[in-house]
Amino acid sequence: MRRVALVAGSGGIGSAMLTALCERSDIESVHSTYFRSPAAGSLGSIGQFGSPVSVNWSQVDITDDDSVAKWIGGIGRFDWLINCAGFLHDGVSGPEKTITQFDTEYFARSMRINCLPNLLLGKYAAPILKRSDKGIFAALSAKVGSIEDNRLGGWYSYRASKAASNMVIKNLAIEWQRSAPKVRVLALHPGTTDTALSKPFQAGVAPGKLFSPSDVAGMLLNQLDQAHQSHSGRFIAYDGEELPW
Ligand SMILES: NC(=O)c1ccc[n+]([C@@H]2O[C@H](COP(=O)([O-])OP(=O)(O)OC[C@H]3O[C@@H](n4cnc5c(N)ncnc54)[C@H](OP(=O)(O)O)[C@@H]3O)[C@@H](O)[C@H]2O)c1
Repeated sequence: MRRVALVAGSGGIGSAMLTALCERSDIESVHSTYFRSPAAGSLGSIGQFGSPVSVNWSQVDITDDDSVAKWIGGIGRFDWLINCAGFLHDGVSGPEKTITQFDTEYFARSMRINCLPNLLLGKYAAPILKRSDKGIFAALSAKVGSIEDNRLGGWYSYRASKAASNMVIKNLAIEWQRSAPKVRVLALHPGTTDTALSKPFQAGVAPGKLFSPSDVAGMLLNQLDQAHQSHSGRFIAYDGEELPW
């Protein structure tokens, strides 16, 4: 039985991930974070939707070292850590169409939410994941964070923050190959998913390419189930395609 630490079980993809985890028979407990949304946080402390899986909610700012340390230290043992947090826009700021729209605050916030948490999570999860014989550290990335795949340009801050996050994932995989060889470290691209994060940008999505959060959660968990040791340090899409960094 696995114990899962789920970052941002309150988000669009994260909440679908939580539901999917609760439907599985190999999951003992999910320790999930929320940040701003007390409604999501009050979903219940034990069990969800009649599932025998124990769900434990904590309010965590995953950009804050002490907050992450306290959350992870309080969980004890876990096997999978899945980071579903992310930031693309708020009511005021959003992705740049041109460099003339670049804004320092928006860039800093993108880096702070999309990249920094994987460093903090790696720092505090390392000793715990090392003890698991089925450890996974998976962070949601985005294909637009691929440098090699970038053909359209734009979205400077989001692309840069996801590319930086990808470097952290690759680095963790290299370090843990030596010190925690059983842990698989993955960057995951969910595909365009119908959540608040993608809402303002869905108009141009090709037919059939806007996925529901529950479909995405199922596909991503499928990738985690199939992840072999040799897949550690890879950037993998929802359908199993390996993406270039
Ligand atoms: N949706 C897509 O089409 C798409 C495509 C490619 C990649 N992705 C990536 O997939 C991931 C999930 O996206 P989504 O669509 O599910 O987004 P979402 O619905 O906007 O959820 C974002 C989550 O991040 C959490 N969060 C933000 N700042 C935080 C902080 N400081 N501390 C803790 N949690 C924080 C939010 O928590 P609260 O709500 O509790 O504040 C929320 O749960 C992101 O990394 C995103 O970049 C999404």
